[in-house]
Amino acid sequence: LANERESMYLVSEYASKYFQEVLHETEEGKAIGLSYFKERGFTAETIKKFDLGYSPEEWEAFTSRALEEGYQLEYLEKTGLSIVKEDRKFDRFKGRVMFPIHSMSGRVLGFGGRILSNTKKAAKYLNSPESDIYHKSKVLYGIYYAKQAIAREDNCYLVEGYTDVIQLHQSGIENTVSSSGTALTSEQIRLINRLTKNITVLFDGDAAGTRASLRGIDLILEQGMNVKVCTFPEGEDPDSFARANSEEDLKEYLEENARDFISYKASLLMEEAKNDPIKKAELIRDMVNSISKIPDNIQREVYLQECSRIMDISENVLYASLAQIQKKDS
Ligand code: CTP
Ligand code: MN
Ligand code: MN
Ligand code: MN
Ligand code: MN
Repeated sequence: LANERESMYLVSEYASKYFQEVLHETEEGKAIGLSYFKERGFTAETIKKFDLGYSPEEWEAFTSRALEEGYQLEYLEKTGLSIVKEDRKFDRFKGRVMFPIHSMSGRVLGFGGRILSNTKKAAKYLNSPESDIYHKSKVLYGIYYAKQAIAREDNCYLVEGYTDVIQLHQSGIENTVSSSGTALTSEQIRLINRLTKNITVLFDGDAAGTRASLRGIDLILEQGMNVKVCTFPEGEDPDSFARANSEEDLKEYLEENARDFISYKASLLMEEAKNDPIKKAELIRDMVNSISKIPDNIQREVYLQECSRIMDISENVLYASLAQIQKKDS
């Protein structure tokens, strides 16, 4: 089994080299893939650093080449790089720009492939399927490039997408990783926990991003980590925001707008509840519920006091509510 996994790594690493070669050395790759990345504002250095690539617009260009090179169809299929149907073989990522996904130690686990035109009906991103080497709930895109900066800065920026990671790195913010579209999982948070106790969530400025951040907060608190949130203007994500601002302004924005989860949640929910007392009661329960996730007694107490102050509710009421939640959970 270890041998099987090794074969899957080797074919994935070959694929990454192949997609990079196509991007940099073929007419199609340069005209379509490379110009796409450049239009997105990625520098040549960034494109190389992240091993970005391009998969040609042909049914089996990659699969045929890999077989010629002696890689076995079994592993091409197990990694999902090739799709085998009856006697026919297809490239999974035909006509897409390629983002290899690396492990903490830099091995290629899988790929995300982006379609070039937003008008086609196909999914914008196609990802490697689950396999013996790729478990999407356990990987963080960018961790290989970010791990040192995360430890050094003692903070990790968590974003939603591949391009958010890349653009922030290019803007000098290298302590950034992404959950890549899956709802954040505890396994992903544990990976970060090995490097720092501090996470700043930078999700997209849209309803989906807000929902994902609220879920993420509770998971992070559960592991006894500290969480801040920095939001972006409606319709912006870290990639688009970083592109539209200078490096200096971006850093300043992140520093000035990163708020403790409790004030983030309070202001978000307050806006929703306005003067509706029933909604306000619900949101207080929601906040206390988040606080109940914190494993450390003292920290829980500090947050409860903070909550009392921000929401203008007596601490006693909040303690009672906390006790109720804890009773229900036990
Ligand atoms: N995603 C995915 N499949 C999709 C859409 C999104 O796997 N059909 C994942 C990708 O990892 C993507 C992330 O979810 O990077 C965030 O999605 P979204 O915000 O829609 O994409 P962006 O990262 O902003 O991508 P782009 O800027 O290229 O549009
Ligand atoms: Mn490289
Ligand atoms: Mn989004
Ligand atoms: Mn986005
Ligand atoms: Mn985007």
